[in-house]
Amino acid sequence: MAEYDFDVLVIGAGPGGYVAAIRAAQLGLKTACAESRDTLGGTCLNVGCIPSKALLHASEYYEAAAGGAMAKMGIKVTPELDLEAMHGQRKDAVKGLTGGIEFLFKKNKVEWLKGHASFESGDTVKVGDRTVRAKNIVIATGSSVTPLPGVEIDEKIVVSSTGALELEKVPQHLVVIGGGVIGLELGSVWRRVGAKVTCVEFLDQILPGFDDDVRKEANKIFKKQGVEFKLGTKVTGVKVDGGKARLTVEPAKGGAAETIEADAVLVSIGRRPNTEGLALDKAGLQANQRGQIETDHDFRTSVKGIWAIGDVIPGPMLAHKAEDEGIAVAENIAGLTGIVNHDVIPSVVYTMPEIAGVGLTEAQAKEHGEVKVGKFPMLANSRAKTNHEPDGFVKVIADAKTDRVLGVWMIASVAGTMIAQAAQAMEFGATSEDIAYTCHAHPTHSEALKEAAMAVTGKPIHI
Ligand code: FAD
Ligand code: NAI
Repeated sequence: MAEYDFDVLVIGAGPGGYVAAIRAAQLGLKTACAESRDTLGGTCLNVGCIPSKALLHASEYYEAAAGGAMAKMGIKVTPELDLEAMHGQRKDAVKGLTGGIEFLFKKNKVEWLKGHASFESGDTVKVGDRTVRAKNIVIATGSSVTPLPGVEIDEKIVVSSTGALELEKVPQHLVVIGGGVIGLELGSVWRRVGAKVTCVEFLDQILPGFDDDVRKEANKIFKKQGVEFKLGTKVTGVKVDGGKARLTVEPAKGGAAETIEADAVLVSIGRRPNTEGLALDKAGLQANQRGQIETDHDFRTSVKGIWAIGDVIPGPMLAHKAEDEGIAVAENIAGLTGIVNHDVIPSVVYTMPEIAGVGLTEAQAKEHGEVKVGKFPMLANSRAKTNHEPDGFVKVIADAKTDRVLGVWMIASVAGTMIAQAAQAMEFGATSEDIAYTCHAHPTHSEALKEAAMAVTGKPIHI
């Protein structure tokens, strides 16, 4: 049998794959990474986290100027939207960061095998017209948009998140199908620059998976911002004619149908793992019913030498989860102990205010036993109030007996940054008292976390 070409071959160069490849190379393993896209960085850098945040950040400035928030602080401006330039800075951000990964591959001597990869056997993979043999293969092929049966995505009028990042003009009316993370983030972008946004959500509330108080409050805030919600509603069809889309919707539980006309429709009802075209069967592997590749705690699949990480395996589809799994899998391959604590993976929705959470929701925590809950409103936080950012709250959920923090949920302008502290506290097994007695700088939004922790035992100062 021929020698191995590589110690490690990673399939997919998203945040899971590129991080795994770099870490494996850093640990002295001869590493290659197969990627079929023209640029590295996967969904996240090319059409996900990065371009969406570039538009969220820019549109937030626009709204602050156009919507009167800047005027409230004594800065009067009449902004003019230059959408082409806004897209330009989005493309620059993507180019800079994807190029950065290419630089890191060269620096760490990771070989980029360009092309689509598919298994020939348990240790052999065809990438484009090259066939390579690797001692370890990491499947990090990520995910793509879940289609809605009967709705054809043309990426012009009926768009996925990828098309919604590239709309050439502001739609008069954007209908978002799915009140999840993508729908709310990209819906916010286009609303801020002038679109009327209607969000059609199948369930009775937006943001499934988040704490119920957060879901309700977020819904109120988005409504106040002008988003119209049709909750408990399903889309049964979309027809495009003469540059307009006509959606047929009806109550999820059944009832009379109605029609909504839109200039653009965003289909954002979730993402599904990329396993098609990998010829998993040739490696002796099989995806589960949801199309995911199952692994053990160390990211080993059922076939020796084949590992899997990121969106393609069960768990939240988040870049930081994929990255941490990338580091852990490389360390496990190298014979070290790579671990990811899946109980403490923060989630952030990058709207304004931001929405974030880590650990158990109150409902989940109650399934395990008695809990104590402390809440603190951002309105009572001096920095948020001074910055004209009164919306939201912080909620700390602790075990009633041990006081150990089980979950933290929040809505605040900088919740995405604040949640890291909660995650770290939980990783260290903190009690609510540990957070309450940690000195927090004043005036910061983070003091709201301290006060919510104080509220767990009923003694916040500022409410
Ligand atoms: P991916 O990033 O999907 O990368 C997989 C790569 O594998 C792709 O480049 C693909 O081309 C390649 N590939 C697939 N099959 C093959 C093959 N057979 N051969 C060769 N190459 C192959 N997450 C966050 O945490 N924060 C955010 O703010 C955030 N924002 C998002 C915004 C949007 C609009 C979207 C769509 C997603 C967002 N996500 C966000 C989710 C995040 O992008 C994913 O969780 C993350 O990219 C998953 O990383 P991954 O490495 O598992 O897969
Ligand atoms: P999602 O799972 O967050 O939300 C999908 C929503 O669509 C749900 O509320 C669901 O109930 C609803 N839905 C499903 N079928 C429907 C139907 N037929 N009609 C109406 N509503 C329907 O999925 P989304 O927003 O597409 O995002 C995909 C993934 O990308 C998420 O898992 C998320 O983790 C990741 N992501 C993360 C971001 C972040 O971390 N900030 C940003 C964007 C995406």
